[in-house]
Parts: sequence; structure tokens; C-alpha cells
Amino acid sequence: MKKQILILLFVLPITQFAYGGVQIVHAPIDSADMDSVKRGAKYFVEYCFGCHSAKYMRFNRIGRDTGMSDAELRENLIFTKNAKGEPSKLGALMTTAMSDDYARQAFGIVAPDLTHVARTGGVDWLYTYMKSFYADPNRPTGVNNAMYRNVRMPHVLAPLQGVQKAVNKTVERRGIKIEVINHLELEQPGSMDEEEYDAFITDLVNFMVYLSEPVQNERKNLGWKVMIYLTILLVFAYLLKNEYWKDVH
Ligand code: HEC
Repeated sequence: MKKQILILLFVLPITQFAYGGVQIVHAPIDSADMDSVKRGAKYFVEYCFGCHSAKYMRFNRIGRDTGMSDAELRENLIFTKNAKGEPSKLGALMTTAMSDDYARQAFGIVAPDLTHVARTGGVDWLYTYMKSFYADPNRPTGVNNAMYRNVRMPHVLAPLQGVQKAVNKTVERRGIKIEVINHLELEQPGSMDEEEYDAFITDLVNFMVYLSEPVQNERKNLGWKVMIYLTILLVFAYLLKNEYWKDVH
């Protein structure tokens, strides 16, 4: 049993590693930038929420943290309906409208919940993943991903990014020659150029980082306050110590 767990621990992270020559790039995110998080939330609902839930988050929590009013939330984020057919409530959890059965039929898998994906997959991996779809006629979706071999997710951002193709190289591993991806190249442009697309996914990833830990900014702020408090306390503790020991000698 122990051995199986150990094998799992080692194999699981490897399944998400890059293969070939496509490197994981650094995600230029700033999770304290609430305007970016706000834009990312909008993109998320528009492009991802049809298949993926973020079911540990509530709409109005995003409103509170990013400074969006209830009216803005209704206008920008809430397009789903609840079981009674009414628009989802402001305090509703962000569950997706797609049923699991439908997802299994369409993709052979239920799209995973994305609440914690920035933490489980890693921020840089996530950012690179969104840049690494490429045309692959052997896949049912017509695309593959250099960060996630044989991914079952379609490239939903292709209209923005365009379609990339993989340029391969031959490498020798243990005496056997194999083809691996060297790099990806834009074959058919989308509506955005590379800079615009990078800014778009930066906002999107920023939102997913916020999603995975909404209190992180509060935690960081509180951290500073605690450090300042402790420093002041140290001064008084030192003065008090001097006061106590003054008469001992
Ligand atoms: C048409 C449905 C659909 C849409 C829309 C969609 N995805 Fe996916 N996504 C999937 C499916 C299905 C998988 C599972 C892929 C697999 O495991 O092969 C997936 C997997 C993922 C993964 C990998 C998760 C993991 O745990 O490894 C990430 C990250 C992801 N999607 C992000 C996004 C983002 C961000 C968007 C919006 C821009 C989005 N997806 C839009 C269907 C979708």
C-alpha cells in the first residue's frame, strides 16, 4: 500500500509536465490587482463557466472582494439559472449549468471544478496551458495541448488566439529516435495579437489565483500588521527587561 501511494505521489505531478521542448513560462500575474481579477471573472464566466464550475465560490463574494456592485454582478457575471428557472441568486455558489451526463457524452469526462486549479496545477503551468493548444487532426476535438497530452478540452479561446501548429524535432532516447514538439507556431491568426492574448489570459489566470485563495491579500496585509505589532512589542519587552534587572546587580 505504502509503495502504491509513493508511486502515485511521484507519477501524478509528472502527468502534468511539459513534454518535448515547450517550456513552462512565468505567468506575469499580480493577484492584488483587483481590476485584473474583475476582468478575469468576466472572461471566466463568458468562456469557461459553460463547462467548468467554481463551486466553492459565491458570486457576491467576488463582488465584495473586487468592489463590484450587485447590479454589476448581475450584468457581468450572473447568467445561470437556479433549479426554479430564476436567475441564480447573488449569494449562490458558482455551479455550472452543464449536467455531468451531458459532459461525459460530449467530452468523455466531466470538466473539473476550477476553484483550486491555480494551486493544484501551479500558476505558471496554468498560464502556459492556456497558450499551448495546437492543431492535431488525430484528436476528436481537433486540438492537443503541449502541457497536457491528449487533453479532452477543446480550444475554446481559438477565436481569440488563433490556431497554432506544432513544429517537431527528432530526439534520441535510449537509442530510439522519436519526434517531440520543438515549439508552437501561429498558423492561423485569431482576433487578438500575441500581446493582447497574453494580457487576456493574465487576467483570467489572475482571477483563478484569486479563486484558489480569496483571502490571500487580507492574509498578506495582516502579516505586515502582525510584524509591526511584534516589533513594537519587542521594544517594550526589552525596556521592561531592563527595568526588572536594574536592581539585581
Ligand atoms: C467546452 C467545454 C469546456 C470549456 C468551455 C472549457 N473547458 Fe477546460 N476542460 C474541459 C474538459 C472536458 C477538461 C478535462 C480535460 C481532460 O482531462 O482531458 C478541461 C480541463 C481543463 C483544465 C485542466 C484541469 C486539470 O485539473 O488538470 C484547465 C486548467 C481548464 N480546463 C481551464 C479552462 C479555462 C480557463 C477555460 C476558459 C477559458 C476552460 N477550461 C473552458 C472542457 C472545457
